[in-house]
Amino acid sequence: MFDSKIRTIVIVGAQWGDEGKGKLVDVIAERADWVVRYQGGANAGHTVHIGDTTFVLHQIPSGILHSGVRCAIGNGVVLDAEKLFGEIDQLVADGIDVQGRLYVSDRAHLVMPYHKLVDAESAANKAIGTTGRGIGPSYEDKVGRRGVRVVDLKHPDRLRPLVERGVDHANALLQRFGSTSRADVEETMGRLMAIAPRLLMLADDVGLVMHRSLRGGGAILLEGAQGSLLDVDHGTYPFVTSSSTTVGGAATGAGLPPSAIDQAIGVVKAYTTRVGNGPLPTEFDEPLGSQVRQLGNEFGATTGRPRRCGWFDSVVVRYAARVNGLTGLAVTKLDVLDTLDRLAICTGYRVGDETLTEFPADIIALDRLEPLYEWFDGWRESIADVRRLEDLPEKARRYLDRIQELAETPIRFVSVGTRRDQIIEAS
Ligand code: IMP
Repeated sequence: MFDSKIRTIVIVGAQWGDEGKGKLVDVIAERADWVVRYQGGANAGHTVHIGDTTFVLHQIPSGILHSGVRCAIGNGVVLDAEKLFGEIDQLVADGIDVQGRLYVSDRAHLVMPYHKLVDAESAANKAIGTTGRGIGPSYEDKVGRRGVRVVDLKHPDRLRPLVERGVDHANALLQRFGSTSRADVEETMGRLMAIAPRLLMLADDVGLVMHRSLRGGGAILLEGAQGSLLDVDHGTYPFVTSSSTTVGGAATGAGLPPSAIDQAIGVVKAYTTRVGNGPLPTEFDEPLGSQVRQLGNEFGATTGRPRRCGWFDSVVVRYAARVNGLTGLAVTKLDVLDTLDRLAICTGYRVGDETLTEFPADIIALDRLEPLYEWFDGWRESIADVRRLEDLPEKARRYLDRIQELAETPIRFVSVGTRRDQIIEAS
């Protein structure tokens, strides 16, 4: 993956999140010096299975599971510090040495307790089906220029007026929502002062650290969270998260120039899933929906919610390939389809008399469309032990060939099971 010319690779989700980015980052990370998260926050849930232990990481990059790799949380992340410490403590309990390996951008914004309150009490956020981790309200405060950044913890006297402003704003919203909950300045200050010493020990200028690493010949893996169709600009707005999940966001959110990015790998499931509300054009009817949900264990890593499942949608993935400039695809969970008799790939949408082959901005159209499918025979055998593309059953290869043709992007990896070694790398 990395060589003398390829120094920075971005891993992004090319559907609606939960594509299996954590596993892919884990696989590539051993060849990197740094793994950096650049957006989102504790709404993410990256699951990695190593031996008998399952690690679910929410904010810490999955690269932390490789002892020689250092990890950073970039300025584009909204950080829940209390949850971060919980994650660090769990890793240490599981035998992972985190000391000196985790950096946090001093420019990252903090998710405050009142952001979670506002997220939970907002009817609009409930309609979207947010994760309730305070992500939207934190980004709103960031863009509204009333956020609190990690660096602000250094100056308690300057912190207090920022907190007062944030609490005022949150309480006005809570009142408008008809909620009886209220944020409190003293309580918030107390919690911030409690996290400050430990968090400031991790704080650094992550953009500068990355710049120096690249100058010294370092290799950087930028780990996206959520998926391209949840991007605040390019996703199925307003049923999106509040950050730039796509490759453009990787540069801004890590503090690197766009020209530093050499490659972008889009992670896609061999089918499609979505958690929360909003359009999912290829969503299965029952009983297939429940069947695939069980086969793929499609329950959210962060909230435990059942994921909605559907056929692979090539319109979505070709769109994600274009928006991100994907140089390769990683297809995950192909083994989940082992037992199906027939499989479909969506190649376009019919809306009235029109056929769409490009993903539309208008989500009302997405609700009314009829997906156009190409059908494939299932391979009906286990592929869990396959490690070379040429050893896959011919019917599975035909399915993958069509995916890369329609997505106009070559397949670089295929994941055939949850374990670290259950991966095929295309040569
Ligand atoms: P928020 O990011 O909590 O504001 O939620 C906004 C939308 O993004 C909801 O539909 C969530 O279900 C979805 N979402 C947020 N994070 C993830 C994720 O890591 N995987 C999948 N969906 C997510």
